[in-house]
Amino acid sequence: MTDQAPAAATESPDIPGKPIAASRTTLSHIMTHNDTNLLGTVHGGVIMKLVDDAAGAVAGRHSGGPAVTASMDEMAFFEPVRVGDLVHVKAQVNWTGRTSMEVGVRVLAERWNESAPATHVGSAYLVFAAVDADGRPRRVPQVIPDTEQDKRRHQEAQIRRTHRLARRRAIMELREKRAAEGFED
Ligand SMILES: CC(C)(COP(=O)(O)OP(=O)(O)OC[C@H]1O[C@@H](n2cnc3c(N)ncnc32)[C@H](O)[C@@H]1OP(=O)(O)O)[C@@H](O)C(=O)NCCC(=O)NCCS
Repeated sequence: MTDQAPAAATESPDIPGKPIAASRTTLSHIMTHNDTNLLGTVHGGVIMKLVDDAAGAVAGRHSGGPAVTASMDEMAFFEPVRVGDLVHVKAQVNWTGRTSMEVGVRVLAERWNESAPATHVGSAYLVFAAVDADGRPRRVPQVIPDTEQDKRRHQEAQIRRTHRLARRRAIMELREKRAAEGFED
């Protein structure tokens, strides 16, 4: 992972920017008995797979080619999902760097036995790196946030990016310090 400042919106002048709406994706799936955990509700890993699938589709659409999951953070589950629920996984690019993209995902469940509006059951943020045929990172179009909500998401993603880099830097510095002190862990 590079430890560089985030790319400015003007860093890729030869690659035209793309609006968030151009790659926004919703993946919908009905939950079955095969998806349950021992409590009879839907296993978190089933939802995480859908989240990764939807986010990957968005990252591929935005970057115009293959993209791999680099990290997934802040996966939160707010409410259980049940068998029969129609789950909608909504994903969009929140932020772009030079070769990476943060994708925000919102998970909604339409209860099979209720007429109430869909429940917000989970959220996650994933970082994808666009890669070339050899698996090396390649540049991505800058994302263009249009609406005020998307501008807020873009700013919040920038904060998460700054924290990810700072956390990684702090851990690497600690490891180097301990190695210099002779610890071999
Ligand atoms: C993700 C991967 C391509 C990064 O390759 P790398 O040689 O470390 O390249 P870089 O350090 O230049 O990182 C590329 C970009 O990804 C970002 N990145 C890399 N690792 C990251 C991490 N753990 N979290 C967040 N962002 C990360 C970097 O910040 C950089 O973004 P930028 O260009 O916008 O600044 C590489 O680690 C990889 O292929 N990982 C396996 C991916 C995979 O198989 N996923 C599926 C798992 S089953």
